[in-house]
Amino acid sequence: MLSVDPGSVPAAGVPASPPVFASAPLLRVEGLCRSFGGLLAVDDVSFSVMPGQIKAVIGPNGAGKTTVFNIISGILRPDSGRILFSDVPIAGLPPFRVGELGISRTFQNLSLFPNMTAIENVMVGCHCRTCCGVVASVLRLPRHYREERAIRDAAEKHLAAVGMADKAGVSVASLPFGQRRLVELARALATQPRLLLLDEPASGLNTRETGDLARIIRQVRDTGVTVLLVEHDMSLVMDVSDSILVLNYGKPVTEGPPAEIRNDPQVISVYLGGDFGSAAD
Ligand SMILES: Nc1ncnc2c1ncn2[C@@H]1O[C@H](COP(=O)(O)OP(=O)(O)OP(=O)(O)O)[C@@H](O)[C@H]1O
Ligand SMILES: [Mg+2]
Repeated sequence: MLSVDPGSVPAAGVPASPPVFASAPLLRVEGLCRSFGGLLAVDDVSFSVMPGQIKAVIGPNGAGKTTVFNIISGILRPDSGRILFSDVPIAGLPPFRVGELGISRTFQNLSLFPNMTAIENVMVGCHCRTCCGVVASVLRLPRHYREERAIRDAAEKHLAAVGMADKAGVSVASLPFGQRRLVELARALATQPRLLLLDEPASGLNTRETGDLARIIRQVRDTGVTVLLVEHDMSLVMDVSDSILVLNYGKPVTEGPPAEIRNDPQVISVYLGGDFGSAAD
C-alpha cells in the first residue's frame, strides 16, 4: 500500500515537501517502443505503478494501450525499452513466465473457453499455482484428489468475489456478456497476481454493472493486488483511479491524479469529439 516515509515529515518551521513513497514501484516501464511495419504504436512510453495503486491508462482508439499491455504480459516483444517488475527485468519473457512472476490480465476481446462452465474456466487459472505432477494426476493418487478439491474451493471463492457464485455451473457460452467479463476477471484473480492488468473491463457493461465493477476493482486492490486499468469509460476511470496516464498516437501526453487529468486542456483536446468531455462533467 502507499505509505508516507516518516523521514519525510518536516521539522517545525521547515516548509512541507510533497509526500515521499516509502516503497519502490512494483512496475517500472522505461522508454518502451514498439512498431508494426511503419507504424510506431508505442513511442517512448515510461511510467511507474506503485504497490497498491489503481493506475489507469487512457487514450483514444489506436493510442497504443493494448500494445503496452501485450508487451508487459509477454505476448509481444518490445523493439526497445525496459520493464521492471519488482526490479526484475521482464521485457521479452514468455507469457507463462510473466504469469509465474505475478502478473495476470484480462483481454479487451474476452479469452474464455466457451464450452466450459464458469467454475471450470476459473479452475484453469488456479491450476497455474498447483504443484501436483503428471504422475500423481495420471495415477489418481490421493494428493491429486486433495489438490483438485482445493482448486475447486479456491475457484468458488474467486467467483464469489466477483458476485458470480451462483453461476459456477453455467456454461460460459450461455452467460450474458457482462457476466463473462466477470468470469474472466475471476480467472485472472485465480492466478494470485500481484499486478492485475484489466483491458477495457467495462466494455459492454451497463451502468449498474459498471458500478458493481468499480466496487470489485477496489475490493481487489484492498486485498493487496495492484491494478493497471485500460478503460474508455471515463466515469469508471475517474471513480477508481489513483493516477492516470494519457496516451495519444503511442506517446505519453500527461500523467496525474483524476482531478488534474479531467481539467487538463491537452487531455480535453486529445478527446475532443470523443466521450471525455461529457463523462468528465
Ligand atoms: N499486431 C498488430 N499488427 C499491426 N498493427 C497493430 C497490431 N496491434 C496493434 N496494431 C496497431 O497499433 C496501434 C495501437 O493499437 P492498440 O490496439 O494498442 O490501441 P488501443 O489504444 O488499445 O486502441 P483501442 O482503444 O481501440 O483498443 C493501432 O494503430 C493498431 O492498428
Ligand atoms: Mg485496446
